Amino acid sequence: MKKIIITGGAGFIGSHVIRLFVNKYPDYHIVNLDALTYAGNLENLRDVEAATNYSFERGDITDEQFIDGLFATADFDAVIHLAAESHVDRSIMDPLSFVKTNVIGTAILLNAAKKYWADKTDKLFYHVSTDEVYGSLGETGFFTEDTPYDPRSPYSASKASSDHLVRAYHHTYGLPMVISNCSNNYGSHQFPEKLLPLMINNILQSKPLPVYGKGENVRDWLWVEDHATAIDVIFHQGKVGDTYNIGGFNEWKNLDIVHLLCSIMDKKLDRLAGESAKLITFVKDRAGHDKRYAIDATKLNSTLGWKPSLQFEEGLERTVDWYLANNTWIENVTSGSYKKYYNQQYTSR
Ligand code: NAD
Ligand code: DAU
Repeated sequence: MKKIIITGGAGFIGSHVIRLFVNKYPDYHIVNLDALTYAGNLENLRDVEAATNYSFERGDITDEQFIDGLFATADFDAVIHLAAESHVDRSIMDPLSFVKTNVIGTAILLNAAKKYWADKTDKLFYHVSTDEVYGSLGETGFFTEDTPYDPRSPYSASKASSDHLVRAYHHTYGLPMVISNCSNNYGSHQFPEKLLPLMINNILQSKPLPVYGKGENVRDWLWVEDHATAIDVIFHQGKVGDTYNIGGFNEWKNLDIVHLLCSIMDKKLDRLAGESAKLITFVKDRAGHDKRYAIDATKLNSTLGWKPSLQFEEGLERTVDWYLANNTWIENVTSGSYKKYYNQQYTSR
């Protein structure tokens, strides 16, 4: 039986990865390590929490003693590392917490893996990262695995830094690792600070839909369950020491995606066509807002055969259906510090 520790498993992407691994690999034992910050929620895992091959460990990756103790007592075969501060706007307000979790936390995990895996083979440290490490594109071109790093927000700089540390531990100490850099994910269980769930929540409440700048920035959107299957494929078949880009070949201008979402919401809520779009409000742009991200996922497709499974319009409709059916989830996750965050972020914008 393989014992795999997945960090950040109570978050958006982590919960989808855990669900996939727990259900697909009954012979693996999956340990979910999560600090349950504002972004982590065990509700996301209700359907798998009773599985005999799953356990939850509450803890902070920046707590060196705790992480060392965990590795000392459990003989982990692999780490899939997703725990992070993940929201760009929060990194602009509070960069140090991103350095702490994303850089120091990753280094602490790497140190524990180095120490306890020193004379063992068949181990793997899988670091889940972002396309934002590559910087920003103009109208054309794609990020490939060879694109030089050029992070431009505190969030992306902290993720780039953690990528570098993972590669440095491979190069210097021979730690077996892989890294994947993925584009924007969407789907169920995403915290309503990110573009799509924030807009869905605001449409439901008939609140303004804050589009930054002119809404012309471009993102490449991928169904979160397709990200989870890519992680599965790379985890099992990826070449140790390599990097894989993951993306949807699915670029959208922010304003266009918000209009599409509004039209889906109008239909689902039996509102007149155009009603939700009336809520669109252009607000002050994000500081240092990266213009365009676009991933070239050819390597992952040609070497490991992965490709996205879902058409974007269908995925977006499924996402909307999930949020409409899970109003209590939205109420729960927005009941704590969310209002304070929202006011800080949007009131004077
Ligand atoms: P998320 O914010 O939804 O979840 C992060 C999880 O990490 C939460 O459960 C939180 O409680 C946990 N966490 C935070 N700090 C921790 C700490 N110090 N110790 C232990 N646990 C901690 O994030 P997400 O959107 O699911 O992203 C997961 C990973 O994927 C991140 O590393 C992110 O950089 C990367 N990524 C995200 C996207 C995206 O579109 N969301 C795209 C590419 C890569
Ligand atoms: O590209 C991968 C990255 O995608 C991940 O690494 C990050 O963890 C994830 O948060 C995401 O980053 P973005 O900054 O692209 O996502 P966000 O949902 O915050 O914003 C998407 C776009 O929408 C971006 O151009 C900013 C814009 N935006 C966002 C919000 C929250 C708005 O116009 N209005 C908003 O209110």
